[in-house]
Amino acid sequence: RTLTVGVVVGSLRKDSINLKLANALVSLGQGLAFKFVPIADLPLYNPDIDGPDTPAAWVKFRERIHAVDAVLFVTPEYNRSVPGGLKNALDVGSRPMGQSVWNGKPCAIATASPGGIGGFGANHALRQSLTFLNMPAMQQPEAYIGGAFELLDEEGRLVKKETKSFLENFMLRFASWVERNVSDDVPVKK
Ligand code: FNR
Repeated sequence: RTLTVGVVVGSLRKDSINLKLANALVSLGQGLAFKFVPIADLPLYNPDIDGPDTPAAWVKFRERIHAVDAVLFVTPEYNRSVPGGLKNALDVGSRPMGQSVWNGKPCAIATASPGGIGGFGANHALRQSLTFLNMPAMQQPEAYIGGAFELLDEEGRLVKKETKSFLENFMLRFASWVERNVSDDVPVKK
């Protein structure tokens, strides 16, 4: 069967460079199906309202992540860490306790920034959570996309062929990572 990857973009901005990068990655991904899973409308996680009147947006989000085999995170760095919206999405998906929809799903991370560090801080802050969430995160190749405004044009096309071949290889390796780490019997109680 074709494995499906949920694409989670950490920026909520309409003209997000990370959204453009995510689209470029999806277009280069061979042999996988992709579904963007939005995080913008998730109320801030609060255990007090998690059942019996759980917000519909949380339920929908959990179902969407539950339905995919793997996850591709594409995110900016905010203050050397993960944007709050993305952290909130991780928190929402991780609860109720023992029912995390992230559990066991292989993933990869790409971070993009106009700056030179390429979102390194966010990339690794995210890895810290993914370890606890039991998500096998692809270690190599890493994707810290610095100077990103010069690498993607207004329409999100990749400007340089070196970037294209780097990202092509990233997606090739990700496809193999997903295939090797996907689990058909992820123990999620619903
Ligand atoms: C930023 N930006 C930023 N960039 C970076 O490389 N390291 C950082 O720590 C931060 N911190 C930060 C905090 C906040 C609150 C904002 C709004 C921005 C700049 C950021 O990389 C830039 O705005 C990107 O364009 C954001 O990605 P998207 O929205 O284009 O995908």
